[in-house]
Amino acid sequence: MKKAIIFGITGQDGSHLTDLLLEKDYEVIGVTRRVSVDTTSRISTLLENKNLKLESGDITDAHSVINILKNHQDAAEVYNLAAQSHVAVSFKQPALTWDITGKGCLNILQAMVDLDMKKSRFYQASSSEMYGKNYDVEVGMTSESKYQDEDTKFIPQSPYAIAKCAAHYMTRLYREGYGLHTSAGILFNHEGPRRGENFVTRKITKWIGDYIKWCNTKGIMPEDSIACGTEEELYVAGRTSRDQDLQFPKLRLGNLDAYRDWGYAGDYCEAMWMMLQQDQPDDYVICTGETHTVREFLQIAFSSVGLNKWDKFVTVDPEFYRPAEVDYLRGDCSKAKEKLGWNPKHSFEDLVKMMVMSDLS
Ligand code: NAP
Ligand code: GDD
Repeated sequence: MKKAIIFGITGQDGSHLTDLLLEKDYEVIGVTRRVSVDTTSRISTLLENKNLKLESGDITDAHSVINILKNHQDAAEVYNLAAQSHVAVSFKQPALTWDITGKGCLNILQAMVDLDMKKSRFYQASSSEMYGKNYDVEVGMTSESKYQDEDTKFIPQSPYAIAKCAAHYMTRLYREGYGLHTSAGILFNHEGPRRGENFVTRKITKWIGDYIKWCNTKGIMPEDSIACGTEEELYVAGRTSRDQDLQFPKLRLGNLDAYRDWGYAGDYCEAMWMMLQQDQPDDYVICTGETHTVREFLQIAFSSVGLNKWDKFVTVDPEFYRPAEVDYLRGDCSKAKEKLGWNPKHSFEDLVKMMVMSDLS
């Protein structure tokens, strides 16, 4: 039986990867950190599985990282998915983001060298956020298209992206300098029903689910609501703006014009595993190749529940603007398609509807 260690097992991707590895008959060692609330909700159905074991540790604590690896030096695969992964939060907590998202990766790599874990394969969760404001341009006969691939230069635009770039280059250095089998997946945004509630996609679908449930309890037709309150308050209401019991806060969002290449998280975790099955370690872009704005996401999400005028329910709040923004992401994953045989299985529309349906239930 192969053993895998997952740092970040309680996150969105950690839970999908655990599903996949247990299905493939792996023994999975998941690293969880001590916090004041239970963080295992995404893996709660797996906790009884005899092939899953949780170890307590924190990626910022080199001592705890080395102890965990020492106890599991026979691991065939080590996945580093742990991160402070919210870009906007990284502007408010840059040092913490650096310690977790940047230095945490170094703590694992150095422990692997110190323990001479040359037989273990390592995966680093790199990110399309590392491209920042940069893209390449493909010039066709009649049009031009912008994209990012493995050769596009990184111009990071956030403390999160800078920390991810450092971890990415460390991953490469420990491959070339120490002969470790280290691969990095440059993953574009990937979502699903398990996505954290403060990322834009889930924030939208969760709001829709909550609003529809609220309408049902109040006996209001969702499409009948009207905007009410002052410009600052902004509620939607069933019949009257005066009756507070019939008011529901609007969905507050920031930049609606950003383009993202959004895929389904389950598909992307399969790509992580595929990378570590290759004899040669390498870096791969994982994406869908399609890009959409936040507005397009809103349009499909709201119309999937019969609400065609999404702008009635949304208010733009500068609180959600970032000091620097990544305007455009669209990946080219030709290398992963060719070398790994990987392809995304879910379309953008499927993804949006899957998330809305899940939040309605
Ligand atoms: P996520 O849901 O935010 O999960 C992050 C995980 O890291 C959680 O398990 C979290 O544990 C853990 N963690 C945070 N700080 C830690 C620490 N100090 N020590 C140990 N564990 C710690 O992120 P995700 O969406 O699953 O993404 C997985 C990885 O891929 C992240 O590295 C992310 O930056 C990267 N990535 C994500 C995307 C995307 O679109 N989802 C795209 C590119 C790259 P708690 O549960 O205790 O908080
Ligand atoms: N979170 C959030 N909340 N984003 C908003 C909001 C809002 O209210 N309103 C608009 N946005 C915009 C952001 O400004 C950004 O342009 C876009 O929606 C996507 O934001 P997020 O969903 O927070 O994702 P992200 O692209 O910043 O980062 C995610 O993808 C990266 C890969 O490119 C995260 O998962 C990162 O960890 C990951 O590396």
